[in-house]
Amino acid sequence: MLPTASAPIAKLLTMMESSARFARESVRRAAAEFGPAWEADFSAMLRNVYGSDVELQDAIKGYAVFVMDSMRRQKRFEQELSYPAKTYAEAAAEVYYNDDYMRRQYLPGLLLSHYLWTHHYQQIEYFKGFFLPWLLREGVEEFAEVGVGTGIYSRLALQTLPALRGTGLDISPLSLEFTGAHVGSFGFGPRYTLRQQNILEEGSSQQYRAVICVEVLEHLEDPVAFLVGLKKLTTLGGRLFVTAALNAAHADHIYLYRKPEEIIAQVEAAGMHVENSFFANAYAPAKRDLPVPGALAMVLTPKA
Ligand SMILES: C[S@@+](CC[C@H](N)C(=O)[O-])C[C@H]1O[C@@H](n2cnc3c(N)ncnc32)[C@H](O)[C@@H]1O
Repeated sequence: MLPTASAPIAKLLTMMESSARFARESVRRAAAEFGPAWEADFSAMLRNVYGSDVELQDAIKGYAVFVMDSMRRQKRFEQELSYPAKTYAEAAAEVYYNDDYMRRQYLPGLLLSHYLWTHHYQQIEYFKGFFLPWLLREGVEEFAEVGVGTGIYSRLALQTLPALRGTGLDISPLSLEFTGAHVGSFGFGPRYTLRQQNILEEGSSQQYRAVICVEVLEHLEDPVAFLVGLKKLTTLGGRLFVTAALNAAHADHIYLYRKPEEIIAQVEAAGMHVENSFFANAYAPAKRDLPVPGALAMVLTPKA
C-alpha cells in the first residue's frame, strides 16, 4: 500500500490483488515518480469514471488482459522487427468496431495505461506543460480532438480552461460513447460535442485554433494524408498537439515508426512545423539494439 494513497487508489490496489497483482508495482512506481498531481488526477478519474466496484474490477481485469496481450505482441515484434501485416480496414473491424473488445479490454486498458505507463504519463505532463499553457495565454475558446479513444486529453483540456469548448471526433462509436461518459462524469458534457467522423473521408467545414490528436498516426496506412487532414482542421496561427507510438506492437498498430525523425519528416511533408517535441521510451532495453516502445509528442504549427 502507498503511505499516502487516496481512497480510490487504495481500493484499486486492493482489487488488483486478485486480478492484476503485477500492476500494483506500476501504481507504486507512478505515485513515487509523479507525485501529488498524478495522485489527485488519477483518484478523480477512478472516482468519476468507475462509479461502482464492479465497474472498477472489470476495468482492472481489462487492463490486465490488455497488458498481457501487448507484451505477447511485443515479444513477437522483438523477433520479427515488423508488425503483422494488417490493413486499416482489418484493424478497424478487429478493434474499433468490436463492441466486446473495446468495452472489456481496449478502452479500460488504454485509460489505466495513461496513468500507469511511465512514458504515457510523461506525455500527459508534456501536454500540461507545453500545450495547455498556450491555450490559456491565447484565450483559445474552442478545440477539436481527433481519435478521442478514452477522452482523457479532451477532459484534461476542459478541466484546465473553464470556458473552453471542445469537439471530439472518432470513427469508433465505442470510443465516442466512452469519451462522452468520461467527459460527462467530470461535469463537462455541456461544453463538449462528439461526432463520428473519419477526417480522411470527410473534411470539416469548421476550423479550430487548437487541435489534439494522440496516438492515432501509427494506426493508419497513410499517416501523411491524415496529418494533412489535421492541418486543414487547424486555423493559420493555431497549434496542434500530436503524438505517435514507436516500436509498440498493439492489435491496431499497423504503421511502424522506428525513429522519431520519421514522424517529424512526415509532419514537415504535411506542411507543418515542429515547435517542440518530447520523446520517451517505455523502459530501458534489456539488450542492446532490442526495440522498446516509445512515444513522441509534438506541438505543431501549420505552415502558410
Ligand atoms: C489508441 S486510440 C487513441 C488514444 C486516445 N487519443 C486516448 O487518449 O485515449 C485510437 C483511436 O483512434 C480512432 N481512430 C482510428 N482511425 C481514425 C480515423 N481515421 N479518424 C478518427 N479516429 C480514428 C480509433 O477509433 C480509436 O478510438
